[in-house]
Amino acid sequence: MNLFEKIPEAGSLVDLDALPKHVAIIMDGNGRWAKARSLPRMMGHRAGVERLHDIVAATSDLGIPVLTVYAFSAENWSRPIDEVGGLMKLLVEYLGKELEGLVKNGVRITFLGSMKGLSDAVVAAMEKAGNSTEMNSKTVLNLAFNYGGRQSIAQAAKKLAVLVGEGKLDPNAIDETLFAQTLNINSLPDPDVVIRTSGEYRLSNFLPYETAYSELIFTNTYWPDFDERCYLRTLAEYQKRDRRFGGL
Ligand code: IPE
Ligand code: IPE
Ligand code: MG
Repeated sequence: MNLFEKIPEAGSLVDLDALPKHVAIIMDGNGRWAKARSLPRMMGHRAGVERLHDIVAATSDLGIPVLTVYAFSAENWSRPIDEVGGLMKLLVEYLGKELEGLVKNGVRITFLGSMKGLSDAVVAAMEKAGNSTEMNSKTVLNLAFNYGGRQSIAQAAKKLAVLVGEGKLDPNAIDETLFAQTLNINSLPDPDVVIRTSGEYRLSNFLPYETAYSELIFTNTYWPDFDERCYLRTLAEYQKRDRRFGGL
């Protein structure tokens, strides 16, 4: 069901002409959601994947061009091996199950993060999803998986240093635009808004360079409870913000 069939008043909850071009979400609180129900943590992650399905569909229905979601951080490797394995399996499952629907909805999948440490099965599922949705142009679902912001900044610095070393780049040509281009493998605009669920007030190494002027919105709702109405409310809150970018 389309968002406007599900929530007929959606158009009065948000200004459809002033939506962000890039929404970024830190999907947090799956574990606590499960704990509150005396369920294993993995059940929280499973419920979270269902919300991801809904929020991706809503993003595409709203015509928002880019959605970046934080699904697995470079630091999440430090969790118990069972949970890490479960999250890897869940990603493969998600990509397999959603692919047809994403193609139908015009959603293109791209990935942000390192391939290092990922199993062949995970990399293959990512490549398949990327390739099968490459021609879609309505909405980009940019999945940050095995992503660390500081790591990607260091990587970009190294890339530029190599070019300078090879005499292919004048160090004086390095400015914030070139740096951003080097960093941004998927050539996406900076996020207009970052939403973090679960009541944590930090970025946890998520897009530290790209969020310099993003609006930050924190909600206490755990990710598995973050439904379309929560999403619309959050977008409405974004629309009330006065973005000055240092000007008046
Ligand atoms: C977010 O939920 C998903 C991932 C980090 C993979 P958490 O697993 O961090 O849930 P909490 O924060 O423990 O509740
Ligand atoms: C950030 O959440 C990563 C994802 C949502 C994928 P975490 O739960 O890992 O962050 P911390 O540990 O609370 O900072
Ligand atoms: Mg967490």
